[in-house]
Amino acid sequence: MSDEVVAYMTGERGKAAPASVEDVEEAVRTKNDTTNTNMNTNIESEATVPILDLEIQDIEGVGPTTAKKLKEAGIVSVMDLAVTSAEELSVDLNSSKESAAAFIISAQKLLRDSNLIQKEFVTADAALEKRRSMLRCSTGSRALDELLLGGIETQALTEFYGEFGSGKSQICHTLCATARQPIESGGMDSGVIYIDTEGTFRPERVEQIARARGLDHRHVLKSIAVCKVYNSSHLELIVKDLGKYVNDFNAKLVIIDGIISLHRAEFAGRGTLADRQQRLNGMLHKIIRLAEIFNIAVVITNQVLSSPDTFFGDPTKAAGGNLVAHSSTYRVYLRKSGENRVAKMMDSPYHPYSDTRFTINEKGADDIEEEGISKNSVGNKKGNKSTTTTD
Ligand code: GTP
Ligand code: MG
Repeated sequence: MSDEVVAYMTGERGKAAPASVEDVEEAVRTKNDTTNTNMNTNIESEATVPILDLEIQDIEGVGPTTAKKLKEAGIVSVMDLAVTSAEELSVDLNSSKESAAAFIISAQKLLRDSNLIQKEFVTADAALEKRRSMLRCSTGSRALDELLLGGIETQALTEFYGEFGSGKSQICHTLCATARQPIESGGMDSGVIYIDTEGTFRPERVEQIARARGLDHRHVLKSIAVCKVYNSSHLELIVKDLGKYVNDFNAKLVIIDGIISLHRAEFAGRGTLADRQQRLNGMLHKIIRLAEIFNIAVVITNQVLSSPDTFFGDPTKAAGGNLVAHSSTYRVYLRKSGENRVAKMMDSPYHPYSDTRFTINEKGADDIEEEGISKNSVGNKKGNKSTTTTD
Protein backbone atom coordinates (compact mmCIF):
# COMPACT_ATOMS: atom_id res chain seq x y z
CA MET A 1 0.00 0.00 0.00
CA SER A 2 1.42 3.40 -0.90
CA ASP A 3 2.10 6.02 1.78
CA GLU A 4 -0.51 8.23 0.17
CA VAL A 5 -3.20 5.60 0.52
CA VAL A 6 -2.28 4.90 4.15
CA ALA A 7 -2.28 8.63 4.90
CA TYR A 8 -5.70 9.04 3.32
CA MET A 9 -7.17 6.14 5.23
CA THR A 10 -5.71 7.19 8.53
CA GLY A 11 -6.76 10.77 7.94
CA GLU A 12 -3.25 12.22 8.21
CA ARG A 13 -4.12 15.35 6.35
CA GLY A 14 -0.58 16.67 6.10
CA LYS A 15 0.60 13.70 4.08
CA ALA A 16 -2.04 13.07 1.50
CA ALA A 17 -5.09 14.88 2.60
CA PRO A 18 -8.47 14.77 1.00
CA ALA A 19 -9.04 17.99 -0.93
CA SER A 20 -8.72 20.93 1.46
CA VAL A 21 -11.29 23.66 1.82
CA GLU A 22 -9.20 25.90 -0.38
CA ASP A 23 -8.74 23.21 -3.01
CA VAL A 24 -12.37 22.65 -3.20
CA GLU A 25 -13.40 26.25 -3.20
CA GLU A 26 -11.15 26.68 -6.20
CA ALA A 27 -12.69 23.72 -7.96
CA VAL A 28 -16.24 24.74 -7.19
CA ARG A 29 -15.51 28.27 -8.26
CA THR A 30 -14.16 27.02 -11.54
CA LYS A 31 -17.26 24.93 -11.97
CA ASN A 32 -19.44 27.90 -11.18
CA ASP A 33 -17.52 29.98 -13.68
CA THR A 34 -18.57 27.59 -16.38
CA THR A 35 -22.11 27.03 -15.19
CA ASN A 36 -23.24 30.20 -13.47
CA THR A 37 -21.62 33.47 -14.29
CA ASN A 38 -23.51 35.19 -11.47
CA MET A 39 -21.55 33.41 -8.78
CA ASN A 40 -18.41 34.93 -7.28
CA THR A 41 -17.55 36.78 -10.43
CA ASN A 42 -14.90 38.78 -8.59
CA ILE A 43 -12.67 35.77 -8.07
CA GLU A 44 -9.99 34.88 -10.54
CA SER A 45 -9.80 31.27 -11.59
CA GLU A 46 -6.45 29.51 -11.71
CA ALA A 47 -7.87 26.51 -13.50
CA THR A 48 -6.47 25.53 -16.84
CA VAL A 49 -8.91 22.72 -17.59
CA PRO A 50 -12.66 23.27 -17.22
CA ILE A 51 -13.88 20.76 -14.64
CA LEU A 52 -16.75 19.73 -16.86
CA ASP A 53 -14.21 18.50 -19.46
CA LEU A 54 -12.89 15.92 -17.04
CA GLU A 55 -14.36 12.46 -17.36
CA ILE A 56 -14.34 9.86 -14.63
CA GLN A 57 -12.43 7.59 -17.00
CA ASP A 58 -9.62 10.15 -17.15
CA ILE A 59 -8.71 8.97 -13.65
CA GLU A 60 -5.76 6.65 -13.58
CA GLY A 61 -6.86 3.06 -13.13
CA VAL A 62 -10.55 3.67 -13.84
CA GLY A 63 -11.70 1.61 -16.79
CA PRO A 64 -15.20 1.18 -18.22
CA THR A 65 -16.15 -1.51 -15.66
CA THR A 66 -15.16 0.58 -12.65
CA ALA A 67 -16.76 3.65 -14.22
CA LYS A 68 -20.00 1.69 -14.58
CA LYS A 69 -19.86 0.54 -10.94
CA LEU A 70 -19.15 4.08 -9.81
CA LYS A 71 -22.06 5.38 -11.80
CA GLU A 72 -24.32 2.78 -10.22
CA ALA A 73 -23.14 4.03 -6.83
CA GLY A 74 -24.09 7.59 -7.79
CA ILE A 75 -20.50 8.72 -8.43
CA VAL A 76 -20.62 10.33 -11.85
CA SER A 77 -17.93 12.98 -11.74
CA VAL A 78 -14.29 13.26 -10.74
CA MET A 79 -15.43 15.66 -7.99
CA ASP A 80 -17.88 13.10 -6.60
CA LEU A 81 -15.10 10.56 -6.36
CA ALA A 82 -12.64 13.03 -4.84
CA VAL A 83 -14.96 13.74 -1.91
CA THR A 84 -16.18 10.27 -1.08
CA SER A 85 -14.81 8.25 1.83
CA ALA A 86 -12.76 5.10 1.37
CA GLU A 87 -15.15 3.16 3.65
CA GLU A 88 -18.20 4.04 1.59
CA LEU A 89 -16.49 3.49 -1.72
CA SER A 90 -15.16 0.08 -0.74
CA VAL A 91 -18.74 -1.00 -0.02
CA ASP A 92 -20.02 0.48 -3.29
CA LEU A 93 -17.29 -1.17 -5.36
CA ASN A 94 -17.19 -4.34 -3.32
CA SER A 95 -13.45 -3.84 -3.08
CA SER A 96 -10.82 -3.41 -0.41
CA LYS A 97 -10.47 -0.11 1.41
CA GLU A 98 -6.96 0.19 -0.02
CA SER A 99 -8.08 0.14 -3.64
CA ALA A 100 -11.01 2.45 -2.87
CA ALA A 101 -8.61 4.92 -1.24
CA ALA A 102 -6.30 4.65 -4.25
CA PHE A 103 -9.13 5.66 -6.60
CA ILE A 104 -9.98 8.64 -4.41
CA ILE A 105 -6.38 9.78 -4.34
CA SER A 106 -6.11 9.39 -8.12
CA ALA A 107 -9.23 11.54 -8.52
CA GLN A 108 -7.72 14.21 -6.29
CA LYS A 109 -4.43 13.97 -8.16
CA LEU A 110 -6.21 14.48 -11.46
CA LEU A 111 -7.94 17.58 -10.09
CA ARG A 112 -4.62 18.84 -8.76
CA ASP A 113 -2.74 18.13 -11.99
CA SER A 114 -5.46 19.96 -13.89
CA ASN A 115 -5.02 22.96 -11.57
CA LEU A 116 -8.58 22.54 -10.41
CA ILE A 117 -7.57 22.13 -6.82
CA GLN A 118 -4.56 23.59 -5.11
CA LYS A 119 -1.65 22.09 -3.30
CA GLU A 120 -2.15 20.66 0.18
CA PHE A 121 -0.60 23.68 1.89
CA VAL A 122 -1.43 27.31 1.33
CA THR A 123 -0.08 30.28 3.24
CA ALA A 124 -2.35 31.76 5.90
CA ASP A 125 -2.75 35.03 4.00
CA ALA A 126 -3.92 33.13 0.92
CA ALA A 127 -6.31 31.16 3.15
CA LEU A 128 -7.64 34.44 4.55
CA GLU A 129 -8.12 35.82 1.05
CA LYS A 130 -10.14 32.73 0.17
CA ARG A 131 -12.28 33.02 3.28
CA ARG A 132 -13.12 36.58 2.31
CA SER A 133 -14.55 35.28 -0.94
CA MET A 134 -16.82 32.91 0.97
CA LEU A 135 -20.55 33.44 0.53
CA ARG A 136 -22.89 34.38 3.37
CA CYS A 137 -26.62 34.24 3.58
CA SER A 138 -28.79 36.52 5.68
CA THR A 139 -31.06 34.90 8.26
CA GLY A 140 -33.58 37.69 7.72
CA SER A 141 -32.73 39.33 11.03
CA ARG A 142 -29.81 41.73 11.03
CA ALA A 143 -29.26 41.14 14.74
CA LEU A 144 -28.96 37.41 14.14
CA ASP A 145 -26.71 38.04 11.13
CA GLU A 146 -24.45 40.12 13.31
CA LEU A 147 -24.27 37.34 15.87
CA LEU A 148 -23.09 35.14 13.00
CA LEU A 149 -20.74 37.90 11.81
CA GLY A 150 -22.57 38.35 8.52
CA GLY A 151 -25.01 35.47 8.21
CA ILE A 152 -24.84 31.76 7.49
CA GLU A 153 -21.48 30.82 6.02
CA THR A 154 -20.56 28.47 3.19
CA GLN A 155 -18.06 25.68 3.94
CA ALA A 156 -19.56 25.39 7.39
CA LEU A 157 -22.17 23.51 9.33
CA THR A 158 -24.37 25.84 11.39
CA GLU A 159 -26.55 24.24 14.03
CA PHE A 160 -29.58 25.91 15.57
CA TYR A 161 -30.82 24.10 18.64
CA GLY A 162 -33.50 24.89 21.12
CA GLU A 163 -36.81 23.84 22.59
CA PHE A 164 -40.04 23.48 20.58
CA GLY A 165 -41.31 26.77 19.20
CA SER A 166 -37.94 28.49 19.68
CA GLY A 167 -37.81 29.44 16.01
CA LYS A 168 -35.55 26.81 14.43
CA SER A 169 -37.89 25.94 11.56
CA GLN A 170 -38.88 29.58 11.12
CA ILE A 171 -35.23 30.54 10.58
CA CYS A 172 -34.98 27.72 8.02
CA HIS A 173 -38.07 28.98 6.19
CA THR A 174 -36.68 32.51 6.15
CA LEU A 175 -33.36 31.30 4.76
CA CYS A 176 -35.31 29.72 1.90
CA ALA A 177 -36.46 33.19 0.91
CA THR A 178 -33.18 35.04 1.47
CA ALA A 179 -30.87 32.55 -0.25
CA ARG A 180 -32.36 33.27 -3.68
CA GLN A 181 -31.59 36.98 -3.35
CA PRO A 182 -28.56 38.52 -5.05
CA ILE A 183 -25.27 38.40 -3.17
CA GLU A 184 -25.24 42.20 -2.75
CA SER A 185 -28.66 41.96 -1.06
CA GLY A 186 -27.57 39.45 1.55
CA GLY A 187 -28.46 36.30 -0.40
CA MET A 188 -26.38 33.79 -2.34
CA ASP A 189 -28.31 33.88 -5.61
CA SER A 190 -28.77 30.17 -5.26
CA GLY A 191 -31.15 27.30 -4.92
CA VAL A 192 -31.91 25.67 -1.57
CA ILE A 193 -32.23 22.02 -0.67
CA TYR A 194 -34.61 21.55 2.25
CA ILE A 195 -34.60 18.18 3.94
CA ASP A 196 -37.63 17.94 6.17
CA THR A 197 -37.49 15.16 8.76
CA GLU A 198 -40.37 16.40 10.90
CA GLY A 199 -42.95 17.19 8.24
CA THR A 200 -42.99 20.86 9.19
CA PHE A 201 -41.96 22.48 5.91
CA ARG A 202 -44.74 24.78 4.66
CA PRO A 203 -44.32 26.31 1.18
CA GLU A 204 -47.12 28.76 1.96
CA ARG A 205 -45.08 30.08 4.88
CA VAL A 206 -42.11 30.66 2.56
CA GLU A 207 -44.47 32.39 0.15
CA GLN A 208 -45.76 34.61 2.96
CA ILE A 209 -42.22 35.47 4.06
CA ALA A 210 -41.15 36.26 0.49
CA ARG A 211 -44.21 38.45 -0.13
CA ALA A 212 -43.77 40.29 3.17
CA ARG A 213 -40.19 41.02 2.18
CA GLY A 214 -41.22 42.28 -1.23
CA LEU A 215 -39.45 39.42 -3.00
CA ASP A 216 -40.56 37.55 -6.10
CA HIS A 217 -42.25 34.64 -4.29
CA ARG A 218 -42.63 32.55 -7.48
CA HIS A 219 -38.91 32.78 -8.14
CA VAL A 220 -38.19 31.93 -4.50
CA LEU A 221 -40.49 28.90 -4.44
CA LYS A 222 -39.04 27.56 -7.69
CA SER A 223 -35.57 27.68 -6.13
CA ILE A 224 -36.34 25.33 -3.26
CA ALA A 225 -36.05 21.58 -3.65
CA VAL A 226 -37.87 19.96 -0.74
CA CYS A 227 -37.47 16.39 0.36
CA LYS A 228 -39.60 14.92 3.09
CA VAL A 229 -37.77 12.02 4.66
CA TYR A 230 -39.55 9.24 6.47
CA ASN A 231 -36.92 7.26 8.27
CA SER A 232 -33.25 7.38 9.22
CA SER A 233 -32.15 5.13 6.34
CA HIS A 234 -33.93 7.41 3.88
CA LEU A 235 -32.14 10.40 5.38
CA GLU A 236 -28.77 8.66 5.15
CA LEU A 237 -29.46 7.80 1.52
CA ILE A 238 -30.36 11.40 0.68
CA VAL A 239 -27.21 12.65 2.40
CA LYS A 240 -25.14 10.10 0.50
CA ASP A 241 -26.34 11.55 -2.81
CA LEU A 242 -26.40 15.14 -1.65
CA GLY A 243 -23.51 16.20 -3.90
CA LYS A 244 -25.55 15.25 -6.94
CA TYR A 245 -28.61 17.15 -5.71
CA VAL A 246 -26.49 20.19 -4.90
CA ASN A 247 -25.27 20.21 -8.49
CA ASP A 248 -28.66 19.51 -10.01
CA PHE A 249 -30.36 22.34 -8.11
CA ASN A 250 -27.40 24.70 -8.13
CA ALA A 251 -27.87 24.92 -4.37
CA LYS A 252 -25.53 26.84 -2.10
CA LEU A 253 -27.64 26.15 0.96
CA VAL A 254 -28.69 22.80 2.37
CA ILE A 255 -31.09 22.75 5.29
CA ILE A 256 -31.73 19.66 7.35
CA ASP A 257 -34.56 20.50 9.72
CA GLY A 258 -34.39 17.94 12.54
CA ILE A 259 -31.03 16.27 11.91
CA ILE A 260 -31.37 13.54 14.50
CA SER A 261 -35.12 13.28 15.15
CA LEU A 262 -35.48 10.13 13.07
CA HIS A 263 -32.42 8.43 14.49
CA ARG A 264 -33.57 9.25 18.00
CA ALA A 265 -37.02 7.86 17.40
CA GLU A 266 -35.80 4.67 15.76
CA PHE A 267 -32.85 3.86 17.99
CA ALA A 268 -34.59 4.19 21.30
CA GLY A 269 -33.03 1.62 23.65
CA ARG A 270 -29.59 1.98 25.22
CA GLY A 271 -28.41 -1.16 23.49
CA THR A 272 -28.76 0.49 20.11
CA LEU A 273 -27.05 3.73 21.09
CA ALA A 274 -23.64 2.79 19.71
CA ASP A 275 -25.18 1.81 16.39
CA ARG A 276 -27.14 5.05 16.25
CA GLN A 277 -24.09 7.18 17.05
CA GLN A 278 -22.03 5.36 14.45
CA ARG A 279 -24.60 5.98 11.74
CA LEU A 280 -25.05 9.58 12.76
CA ASN A 281 -21.30 10.02 12.76
CA GLY A 282 -20.99 8.73 9.18
CA MET A 283 -23.77 11.03 8.03
CA LEU A 284 -22.40 14.12 9.77
CA HIS A 285 -18.92 13.55 8.36
CA LYS A 286 -20.34 13.28 4.88
CA ILE A 287 -22.22 16.55 5.41
CA ILE A 288 -19.08 18.35 6.60
CA ARG A 289 -17.08 17.12 3.60
CA LEU A 290 -19.83 18.28 1.27
CA ALA A 291 -19.99 21.71 2.87
CA GLU A 292 -16.27 22.15 2.37
CA ILE A 293 -15.88 20.61 -1.00
CA PHE A 294 -18.96 22.00 -2.69
CA ASN A 295 -18.59 25.38 -0.98
CA ILE A 296 -22.11 25.23 0.41
CA ALA A 297 -23.70 26.39 3.63
CA VAL A 298 -25.33 23.64 5.66
CA VAL A 299 -27.87 24.49 8.34
CA ILE A 300 -29.10 21.83 10.72
CA THR A 301 -31.61 22.07 13.52
CA ASN A 302 -31.55 20.02 16.66
CA GLN A 303 -33.81 19.42 19.58
CA VAL A 304 -32.89 19.86 23.21
CA LEU A 305 -33.09 17.34 25.97
CA SER A 306 -34.32 18.26 29.38
CA SER A 307 -31.72 17.75 32.11
CA PRO A 308 -33.60 17.95 35.38
CA ASP A 309 -30.37 17.44 37.31
CA THR A 310 -29.08 20.87 36.21
CA PHE A 311 -29.44 23.31 39.10
CA PHE A 312 -27.80 26.36 37.57
CA GLY A 313 -28.17 27.84 34.10
CA ASP A 314 -30.43 26.54 31.39
CA PRO A 315 -31.57 22.98 32.10
CA THR A 316 -31.45 21.98 28.47
CA LYS A 317 -28.78 20.57 26.23
CA ALA A 318 -28.71 19.65 22.56
CA ALA A 319 -29.62 16.13 21.54
CA GLY A 320 -27.08 13.89 19.89
CA GLY A 321 -24.44 14.47 22.54
CA ASN A 322 -20.89 15.38 21.67
CA LEU A 323 -21.21 13.93 18.21
CA VAL A 324 -23.42 16.68 16.80
CA ALA A 325 -21.69 19.28 18.96
CA HIS A 326 -18.27 18.43 17.58
CA SER A 327 -19.49 18.17 14.00
CA SER A 328 -21.08 21.61 13.91
CA THR A 329 -18.82 24.53 13.01
CA TYR A 330 -21.15 27.02 14.68
CA ARG A 331 -23.77 26.24 17.30
CA VAL A 332 -26.50 28.69 18.12
CA TYR A 333 -28.85 28.11 21.03
CA LEU A 334 -32.36 29.55 20.67
CA ARG A 335 -34.86 30.18 23.40
CA LYS A 336 -38.16 31.97 23.79
CA SER A 337 -38.19 35.23 25.70
CA GLY A 338 -41.73 36.52 25.96
CA GLU A 339 -42.86 37.43 22.46
CA ASN A 340 -39.30 37.39 21.21
CA ARG A 341 -36.44 34.97 20.86
CA VAL A 342 -32.90 34.95 22.20
CA ALA A 343 -30.08 33.46 20.15
CA LYS A 344 -26.78 32.65 21.80
CA MET A 345 -23.55 31.72 20.02
CA MET A 346 -22.46 28.65 21.98
CA ASP A 347 -19.57 27.35 19.96
CA SER A 348 -17.51 28.79 17.16
CA PRO A 349 -13.89 28.81 16.07
CA TYR A 350 -13.90 32.60 15.80
CA HIS A 351 -17.17 34.24 16.82
CA PRO A 352 -17.26 36.04 20.18
CA TYR A 353 -19.43 34.39 22.80
CA SER A 354 -22.47 36.64 22.68
CA ASP A 355 -26.23 36.67 22.38
CA THR A 356 -28.86 38.70 20.63
CA ARG A 357 -32.62 39.07 20.37
CA PHE A 358 -34.85 38.71 17.36
CA THR A 359 -38.49 38.07 16.65
CA ILE A 360 -40.68 35.95 14.40
CA ASN A 361 -43.36 37.67 12.36
CA GLU A 362 -44.85 37.57 8.87
CA LYS A 363 -41.34 38.11 7.47
CA GLY A 364 -40.06 35.03 9.26
CA ALA A 365 -37.03 35.72 11.44
CA ASP A 366 -36.84 39.48 11.79
CA ASP A 367 -35.42 42.26 13.94
CA ILE A 368 -37.34 43.64 16.86
CA GLU A 369 -38.92 46.87 15.66
CA GLU A 370 -39.15 48.67 18.97
CA GLU A 371 -35.36 48.59 19.18
CA GLY A 372 -35.21 50.76 16.09
CA ILE A 373 -34.07 48.02 13.80
CA SER A 374 -34.93 47.89 10.13
CA LYS A 375 -38.18 46.34 9.02
CA ASN A 376 -36.51 44.40 6.29
CA SER A 377 -32.97 43.35 6.94
CA VAL A 378 -32.34 41.47 3.72
CA GLY A 379 -30.61 43.75 1.29
CA ASN A 380 -29.99 46.40 3.90
CA LYS A 381 -26.52 46.08 5.30
CA LYS A 382 -26.52 48.92 7.82
CA GLY A 383 -28.60 49.07 10.95
CA ASN A 384 -28.71 49.09 14.67
CA LYS A 385 -27.16 46.28 16.52
CA SER A 386 -29.08 44.52 19.23
CA THR A 387 -26.33 42.19 20.27
CA THR A 388 -25.81 42.17 24.01
CA THR A 389 -22.99 40.78 26.00
CA THR A 390 -23.63 37.39 27.36
CA ASP A 391 -24.69 36.71 30.90
P1 GTP B 1 -39.88 22.35 17.00
O1 GTP B 1 -39.67 21.99 15.58
O2 GTP B 1 -41.21 21.98 17.51
O3 GTP B 1 -38.78 21.83 17.91
O4 GTP B 1 -39.84 23.96 17.15
P2 GTP B 1 -39.13 25.07 16.23
O5 GTP B 1 -38.02 25.67 17.02
O6 GTP B 1 -38.82 24.57 14.90
O7 GTP B 1 -40.30 26.12 16.17
P3 GTP B 1 -40.74 26.98 14.93
O8 GTP B 1 -39.58 27.59 14.26
O9 GTP B 1 -41.70 26.22 14.09
O10 GTP B 1 -41.50 28.15 15.67
C1 GTP B 1 -42.86 28.10 15.94
C2 GTP B 1 -43.25 29.44 16.50
O11 GTP B 1 -43.02 30.43 15.50
C3 GTP B 1 -44.73 29.50 16.79
O12 GTP B 1 -44.97 29.11 18.11
C4 GTP B 1 -45.01 30.96 16.58
O13 GTP B 1 -44.70 31.66 17.77
C5 GTP B 1 -44.02 31.40 15.53
N1 GTP B 1 -44.64 31.45 14.20
C6 GTP B 1 -44.77 30.44 13.33
N2 GTP B 1 -45.39 30.85 12.21
C7 GTP B 1 -45.66 32.15 12.39
C8 GTP B 1 -46.29 33.14 11.59
O14 GTP B 1 -46.74 32.88 10.48
N3 GTP B 1 -46.37 34.38 12.10
C9 GTP B 1 -45.88 34.69 13.30
N4 GTP B 1 -46.00 35.92 13.75
N5 GTP B 1 -45.29 33.78 14.10
C10 GTP B 1 -45.17 32.54 13.64
MG1 MG C 1 -39.24 22.83 13.87
